[in-house]
Amino acid sequence: MHKTANSICFLTYNYRKMQSQDMQNAVERLMLKNRRFFDSYTYTVPSSEHYPFQWLWDSCFHAIILSHIDTTLAREEIRSLLARPLANGLVPHIIYWKKGYETLKWGREYEGDVLTKAWGTDGVSSITQPPLIASALWELHTRAPDIGFLHELYPRIRDHYLCLLTERNFSAHGLMGIINPDESGEDNSPRFDSLQGLPSRHSPKQNLHRRIDRVREHAKCGFDVQNCTRLHFWIEDVSFNAISLRALEALSLIANEIGEKQDSDVFSLCAQQIRTSMQLYMKSGYRYYSLQGETQERIIVDTWGLFMPLYAGLLHKEEATLLVERHLLNSKQFFTNFPIPSVSCTEKSFTGDDLWRGPTWIAINWFVYKGLKLYGFNDVAETIRQKTIRLLTQSGFREYYDAHTGEGHGAHNFTWGGLVLDMN
Ligand code: GLC
Repeated sequence: MHKTANSICFLTYNYRKMQSQDMQNAVERLMLKNRRFFDSYTYTVPSSEHYPFQWLWDSCFHAIILSHIDTTLAREEIRSLLARPLANGLVPHIIYWKKGYETLKWGREYEGDVLTKAWGTDGVSSITQPPLIASALWELHTRAPDIGFLHELYPRIRDHYLCLLTERNFSAHGLMGIINPDESGEDNSPRFDSLQGLPSRHSPKQNLHRRIDRVREHAKCGFDVQNCTRLHFWIEDVSFNAISLRALEALSLIANEIGEKQDSDVFSLCAQQIRTSMQLYMKSGYRYYSLQGETQERIIVDTWGLFMPLYAGLLHKEEATLLVERHLLNSKQFFTNFPIPSVSCTEKSFTGDDLWRGPTWIAINWFVYKGLKLYGFNDVAETIRQKTIRLLTQSGFREYYDAHTGEGHGAHNFTWGGLVLDMN
């Protein structure tokens, strides 16, 4: 009897090992296929056909994935991401490196000059994306310490966060604002509908055009966020601030590691300030709400951002339990066959196949997995990991997936699936 149980355990162990080795190999092949070279830089494109440039938060995901495969490549990914900052120090959301937008279907939808001239000020975009850089760098450093590399990159990373902390802290209580939906990384999320005057049901094209309007306004304003752009679009987003908070904590550790003690204290205080302000201005009961416009009106739409306070450790354990039990594990809202949908199934805006309006993205699962682990919800985290593996095995490396059927949509050979290597 004892022997049988032992051999079953052994077989299961071996099967899991084989399964994870297959996944590791598949991710390695994908990351290699999507690797690009320019002058002395190398970077990874999210998808060769659909997204042939370098994107900010994508590159942070790539560095984290590569830290499980080849730490030298992971360092190169971050180095290239920091190579083309804007004049104010901000890291742009896209670096084009090579031309290629003319051939893109969605590039043409930008109607001529916008992609190249407004988003692309001299080869880069004029807006940013969730500031995950310090978190990715710190994770890489803990896996493969390299003090020299931290020294090399520190000035640029510091400038990026200093710019956010000054230019984007308009209300002066520490919360960071975004000036375009694309800065959230969730381009067409229904969280941004109301401020853009869009109904809960509208076409992807309509949505894109509104976002392009934001880009045009930004360009017309001479890219002046403080005095102009923010008057057109200003959101203090829970996810963006949760990511910033964690990143500033990581930046404080990086600064400390290279002997910049004063900076370390400052960044730690800034993280604390965001934490306090999120609790003060965004929290109601166990939930956090993003705020929009001058009046900081609450945005009442249930998206996966509901779970980002877990990632940032912003809840007490009892509050976290309520959040997980009432919402994450609720099959009417987020616990679909292939969780976690980007929008609750109960929302009017929910769809199966339109980007951030319902489909499941692997990065969502990764963020929520990290939050669940932080709070010790290990079984739920393991369920999310298993379901993520099932999704990838069934539908391959796609940009996003129908949360009910698991069908893959959007770009093929999309890199974010590799984050499954970091769900451990
Ligand atoms: C889409 C996603 C965005 C991502 C980009 C490149 O625009 O919404 O988050 O950075 O593609 O993958």
